[in-house]
Amino acid sequence: MTFQRNSINDNGGAIPPNFLELANTESNSHYMRKCKELGIKPHPARFPKEFAEFFIKFLTNEGDLVLDPFAGSNTTGYAAEKLERQWIAVELNEPYIEGSILRFEEEPSLFESELKVYGSKNA
Ligand SMILES: C[S@@+](CC[C@H](N)C(=O)[O-])C[C@H]1O[C@@H](n2cnc3c(N)ncnc32)[C@H](O)[C@@H]1O
Repeated sequence: MTFQRNSINDNGGAIPPNFLELANTESNSHYMRKCKELGIKPHPARFPKEFAEFFIKFLTNEGDLVLDPFAGSNTTGYAAEKLERQWIAVELNEPYIEGSILRFEEEPSLFESELKVYGSKNA
């Protein structure tokens, strides 16, 4: 991962954008493999776990609460869990949230956490 700042490069006065450069290894993730195995359509617009990790580490401390109001496949919640934050994921499309549970099967220790899914069926 590369985080470029204006102060690092001499761009001759031009204002370069700050950006995160991340390898996209998501296609080989446990989530993607399980979706394929179970015939579940993966979320079409996931972002790399490292993207969520960067901002969670930057903006929060262990034990803090991370909220993603547009969670999709819950990349953010997964990253937050691994970084020992609490998290809440809100997603309009229930199948995406159901599929996101596959992320937490990767490491049995993550299942020790209390994972609750609230949906319109449970309301
Ligand atoms: C770009 S995707 C998020 C992808 C996510 N970052 C990931 O890595 O999987 C945005 C999500 O917001 C959801 N969404 C859109 N409007 C919403 C709303 N009003 N409340 C909750 N979720 C919403 C969409 O269903 C979609 O899954």
